[in-house]
Amino acid sequence: MKYSLNHGWSFARGRIEDAKEDVLKRAEIVEIPHCVDIYSPQYISEKSYQGDYTYQLRFDCKSDLPVKTLRFNGAMLQFDCFLNGVNLGHFISGYLPVDIDVSKAIRPKNNLLTVYLDGREDPDIPPFGKVVDYLTFAGIYREVELLCRPKAHIKDAFVEAKANGQVSIKLALSEEAEVHIKVLDGDQIVYEGKETSFCIPKVHSWSIEDPHLYEFVFTCEEDEVRKSIGFRDIAWRKEGFFLNGKRIPLIGLNRHQTYPYFGPAAPKSLQYEDADILKASGINVVRTSHYPQSEHFLDRCDQIGLLVLDEIPGWQFIGTSKKWRQNCRDFTRRMIVKERNHACLVAYGLRIDESADDDELYSSLQKIREELDPGRASLGVRNFKDSHCLEQIYGYNDFSGDSLAHGADPSKQLKGGEGKPLLITENNGHMFPTKSFDATDRRLEHALRHAKTLSDILSDTGYCGGIAWCAFDYNTHKDFGSGDHICHHGVFDIFRNPKYAAAFYKSQGEEPFLEVASLVQPGDFNEALMPKIYCFTNADYVELHKGEDYIGKFYPAKDEFPSLPHPPVIVDDIIGATFNEKGITEKDGKKIVEAFNYCAQNGFNRLKLGHKVTLVRLMAKYKMDFSHVYATYAKYIQSWGEGSLLWRFIAYKDGKKVGEVHRGPSTEFHYELKSERDTLIHGDTYDCLRLSLVKKDQYGTILPYASDPIRIETEGPIEVYGPNLVSLYGGATSVYIRSKETKAPKEAIVRIEGHDGALEYRLLVRPQ
Ligand code: GAL
Repeated sequence: MKYSLNHGWSFARGRIEDAKEDVLKRAEIVEIPHCVDIYSPQYISEKSYQGDYTYQLRFDCKSDLPVKTLRFNGAMLQFDCFLNGVNLGHFISGYLPVDIDVSKAIRPKNNLLTVYLDGREDPDIPPFGKVVDYLTFAGIYREVELLCRPKAHIKDAFVEAKANGQVSIKLALSEEAEVHIKVLDGDQIVYEGKETSFCIPKVHSWSIEDPHLYEFVFTCEEDEVRKSIGFRDIAWRKEGFFLNGKRIPLIGLNRHQTYPYFGPAAPKSLQYEDADILKASGINVVRTSHYPQSEHFLDRCDQIGLLVLDEIPGWQFIGTSKKWRQNCRDFTRRMIVKERNHACLVAYGLRIDESADDDELYSSLQKIREELDPGRASLGVRNFKDSHCLEQIYGYNDFSGDSLAHGADPSKQLKGGEGKPLLITENNGHMFPTKSFDATDRRLEHALRHAKTLSDILSDTGYCGGIAWCAFDYNTHKDFGSGDHICHHGVFDIFRNPKYAAAFYKSQGEEPFLEVASLVQPGDFNEALMPKIYCFTNADYVELHKGEDYIGKFYPAKDEFPSLPHPPVIVDDIIGATFNEKGITEKDGKKIVEAFNYCAQNGFNRLKLGHKVTLVRLMAKYKMDFSHVYATYAKYIQSWGEGSLLWRFIAYKDGKKVGEVHRGPSTEFHYELKSERDTLIHGDTYDCLRLSLVKKDQYGTILPYASDPIRIETEGPIEVYGPNLVSLYGGATSVYIRSKETKAPKEAIVRIEGHDGALEYRLLVRPQ
């Protein structure tokens, strides 16, 4: 039996002795997952959590099964644990679970659990010892559970399941006992027995498109363990990554686990949502940089078919102390045991990100992998081209992409990985930090750099694929980021709202999609120009209409991005079919249109000699002076006054319209408040939903320079997590709503109000 111990903890700063007493009677009452502060999204100091904290919980134990274990799924960083005054020991968690045997100390009623948490960076524990480019907020930030089991119980079950239905199970039991195994496909039992090796005929395999899972139920006396298992074959070869025999070019993003306000202490629903956002963003793999992440996140990746590469805790630095190295080995062991049943997990990250060669350490990690899961490959990530590679996959962080002309270096330059599968594990990131409120041209270039890098990677069959830096903006140390303690490296901002780069990735998927990466406002660009307009889409072509006029059809830019599944569509002619001047021949008209478009994109001062010669020749031919030419230019290009028109971009696939985006002068404004969910379930932990709040104009364009103050109020058993007065951030933000205890289902309302309107969002809160 598993009991959750997440509600109603007392919490105080400092180490408050004495663990035998309710020393925190009047302290703050908190819920787990918990971080030691409700952090502002920006300008956070890493000093703020370098300290001691005391947590206490009173609880009853309903079970009379003899073996009791307390499980801390994640507490940053280390703690002393006392139960009823008995010192149970000192434990290091960080990013990994800790199990504590409390069989002797526990009693049926009124137990007092005291945790003295030390959140300081400790140079003997990875990732610490030097600098780290991410924040490691302190707190008991993942769930706490009490496991009650009979003497003979299942300590662990490791299932390997192949695409041909072959199953092989390794059981770890507390003592010799019989284990009954049942395999369920939905409600249907497809295997029942005691064998640990068997075959399920005609098995429904697990894949990215169809992530089918079976439920394995292990029973030993009154102990029951359940695992969701996918049947699939994974192969990493020099020629690429293969899932069930099919080569899949990997397209991915790196993910840090922190959120605004919550730090890392986000409950299951938000962990699920992150996986859902990434899956919907068109990628097929995520790297849990640079540490093991929540089981909820991995569970969701299993369920939705998102591949995962995990990683041991670390960042560039390898400690020389015995303790540091021992902790690194210990974390490796604990990560593999925690994660080895996940179908989504395609390789272990068994090298500290971007660290130097260290054959002694890394060969010892290989031994641990061979002992615990020899069938799964491991990946080593470095940022240099020549290196020892004790892992099966050579990961390389390629930050050579410094412009739109160069995205990634060719795979043949990677000397250390010769004969091994090669994977680009990071790119972009700090090379072009981009905020969601940056000017359009920067946000566009950010997206195009990702497009260029991915195209370069996919065109090189020596690579298995590329994983860009990174999914979401994340909080970081003073030494990194924009001075605001944020690395604005995400394709989504810290609130999970998409930048243009996220639209680029989404356009690489197959769900019909169109985003126009421009506000189509000359004043938004230098010199009031109108640069080429990029459409991120997976359609066959995009039509542009201005007002009532049809301008033209535009196709994916295969020449510029030859290897992308769906190159962007570039609208480089905003006059097109509308050019109609009496007396000018069609052939001359085309030349004028070309010169005018060039002018619109680059300015009159930068006209090429060829354009100038053409214009002068045509001026002579048609007896026009420069003011006439300029007036004609203004008629077709300028969009002031009468000229300000509605621009309609319409995407077509297989002859059918699959998307339409409008741009025009923004004169009417409104807010949108959206979530994928409308029910909160207050159960093992509080539940949480993210409401995405966006300001748009009458055409549905997100207004990236809006920073309106927004007041938030709630009614019913919910609360806003974070402040009740927020500012939009790049035209958008997210409002996080937490459930409170309720005995029966109750309606709740979130109300937001800003200058351009008021909205409400209704939801239901119910007990589990
Ligand atoms: C890499 C590092 C990442 C992150 C990134 C920023 O070198 O591995 O953790 O710091 O740079 O672009």
